[in-house]
Amino acid sequence: MSDEDAPEELTVPEPADKTEAAGRTTRRRTVRRLSIAGVAVGLAAVGGFAYTQLKPVVDAQRYATVTYEVPTAPKLTPTAGETLLRVDPTRSSLTYEVDEELGGRKTGTAKGTTSGIAGDVALNQADLARTRMGRIVVNIEQFESDNNLRDARIRQDFLQSNEYPLATFDLDKITGLTGEVEEGKTYEFTIDGKVTVKGKPATVTWDATARWEGGELVATATTVAKLSRFDAGPISIAGLVQTRDDVKLTLKLTAVDPSTTDVATAVEREARQERTGTGVPSYVGDIEPILERNCVSCHQSGQFGAHTLTLDDAGDAKAVSDGIKTVTQVGYMPPWFASDKGVDLAHKPDISDEEIASLAAWAEAGAPLDVPATTKLEPTREAAELLPRQDQKMFIPSYTGSADVSNDYRCFVLEPEIAESMFMTGYTFLGDQVAQLHHAQVFHISGEQRENVRSKEGADGSPGWSCYSSPSLPGRPPDRDPGEPRHRDVGFAGQANLVAGWVPGQSPVIFPENAGFLMDPGDALVLQIHYHYGDEPVADRSGLAIQLTPDTPDIREMRVVNPLAPVEVPCLPEDADAPLCDRDAAMEENVRLYGPSGAGTQNGLLMLCGRTPDELAATFDGRFARSWCDLVVPEDGVITGVLGHMHTIGSTLRMTLDADTPAEQILLDIPDWSFDWQMNYALAKPLRVKAGQPLRLECSWDRAKAAGREPKYIMFAEGTEDEMCFATYSLIPDRQDR
Ligand code: HEC
Repeated sequence: MSDEDAPEELTVPEPADKTEAAGRTTRRRTVRRLSIAGVAVGLAAVGGFAYTQLKPVVDAQRYATVTYEVPTAPKLTPTAGETLLRVDPTRSSLTYEVDEELGGRKTGTAKGTTSGIAGDVALNQADLARTRMGRIVVNIEQFESDNNLRDARIRQDFLQSNEYPLATFDLDKITGLTGEVEEGKTYEFTIDGKVTVKGKPATVTWDATARWEGGELVATATTVAKLSRFDAGPISIAGLVQTRDDVKLTLKLTAVDPSTTDVATAVEREARQERTGTGVPSYVGDIEPILERNCVSCHQSGQFGAHTLTLDDAGDAKAVSDGIKTVTQVGYMPPWFASDKGVDLAHKPDISDEEIASLAAWAEAGAPLDVPATTKLEPTREAAELLPRQDQKMFIPSYTGSADVSNDYRCFVLEPEIAESMFMTGYTFLGDQVAQLHHAQVFHISGEQRENVRSKEGADGSPGWSCYSSPSLPGRPPDRDPGEPRHRDVGFAGQANLVAGWVPGQSPVIFPENAGFLMDPGDALVLQIHYHYGDEPVADRSGLAIQLTPDTPDIREMRVVNPLAPVEVPCLPEDADAPLCDRDAAMEENVRLYGPSGAGTQNGLLMLCGRTPDELAATFDGRFARSWCDLVVPEDGVITGVLGHMHTIGSTLRMTLDADTPAEQILLDIPDWSFDWQMNYALAKPLRVKAGQPLRLECSWDRAKAAGREPKYIMFAEGTEDEMCFATYSLIPDRQDR
């Protein structure tokens, strides 16, 4: 049941504020984690709390159980002619309403209400204009909506009300209220004042009505605020849910004379009702197995989906049951973006419609548990096998970029310090400030290269070094580089010895088929991180955990091959006069931002692929542009995994063997690109390929996704606002030199 069922209109929350968003750029990565389905956000209010900071009983970590105690507000002392009135929380409420969209269409209004509101009014019955109002304090942690995941998210992220449970309103002036009070008359007026949320104040004007009757003051005040002003939105989650920026706040107050009426200090809230019995799935019999097979490998503590949602035990699942229902119904979870056109891929989610219906029925029944809430969720064995061991964890030194360089490519050396040769057979990227990470790549370097980089490290006063395009290290590359000739298909030396990567939405990797990269003692890894700052940069300590396997005869060396294609996305005709819509000017700008690679990569790819800018620009139909490159497989072997990478205006990506021939086989087809979900896909069966076999990479981009940005002719370059047509495949060469 929803908040609406809660007893007598809970208390009031208030408008939230998120000030401080001003001046930020999109923050999509931050925001995308927010909520889900509904997400709402918002709201509300206020925050303050400068004094009695009521520390609510928060369930250990995350999805808080909140108390419903009413906060304390400063008390007014009435002077002659004033009647002291105190807010009665059992008959007062603050509600937020925000429109939500799914896929660009408005799908509903998220609405949440809170209890726990306190404050005094000193009514001047003879001269209403002299009425005073004390600070109004609202417990916004108590916001409750019809979706428990949304509520948890608001507490944890948007409003951070776990940390800042109180919002405040301080009156500045009341306009339009004059004369003597008349019993039973409804007055209309406006209230100006300061709303404080998370300690940040914003000025707000409320339209209010009030009536004095039977010794009680009953008032309603509404205002429309911008989520962005409160740094609370608009919210967009992984392309799934999007809220509008406007949030409507409604404050309903009933104030009574505290000398004659007891004012409640706690508000009761009915627990959600639970149903069990016919038609209601059993947690242990139905729900737990679905979660353990499909969800827990990513969502248990320490795994990469856990920063958004942790599913460690039955109580966690219950706490976000509405969210589980929503994400599975819309097909957002478990995540999967490849179409069925390509070769068979491993680990495709197999959650059935019946299972999705069970999750929904369970949530609708109030998520009853037939086991203790502390009963652990464990991934099934098959799901657990997808998780690599973290035999060795390495972290970069704490690094803080500069807001002046919004696309910051930084390289750091990680030293595995192995005493004998070992295979790296899997890895987990340990993202720290994920909101500012665009991608990471890991390169294998030799001991000699490691020595040669010492002079660069820290030379500009910060850890690591700036490294657009590639780490470019002098010295002999690592000995162990299987197959020959080296990388002749790639034409892009920067990507030689690429052994691992991370992009948003990507899970840890175990290389299939007992394969890996052989590392000798003294060898090292270079972690190249592309930071993209919308906000002020925050210190980052990301890292990498690797699974290490001793060198035995049955293990095989693999390599990552990295097909690329050039990018030419012209501006819309109406923007043709914008300065960066001139291709040469855009390229000069890229060189200014990223150094020689700002032009070099695109020019090199045009040459490698035998394409001209005009030819590719001619594919632009006013919205979509496409590009492709015909390459060849470098050597005989088997392909075991594939991945695609584009930036934010990517639309489709496809990698095909023997394109346009009867033998054509699609390796990876992503029909609807999402920057947030760039997954590594393992092939269900290794696919045999021959040296020289044609391999085509094609991409398309949707200019409409760049709406609102400064117009620019887009080419292959390093910025998040530039684009790439980039794929990798893991190849185990037949020829193993060891
Ligand atoms: C391959 C790993 C993976 C699997 C499998 C997976 N998830 Fe997720 N899930 C994620 C990641 C990563 C996110 C965070 C996405 C983001 O940051 O936008 C997420 C987000 C979510 C959210 C949104 C939380 C929020 O408030 O934004 C919910 C709910 C969720 N997952 C539930 C599930 C359920 C239920 C299942 C199983 C049916 C499942 N997930 C399977 C990785 C996974």
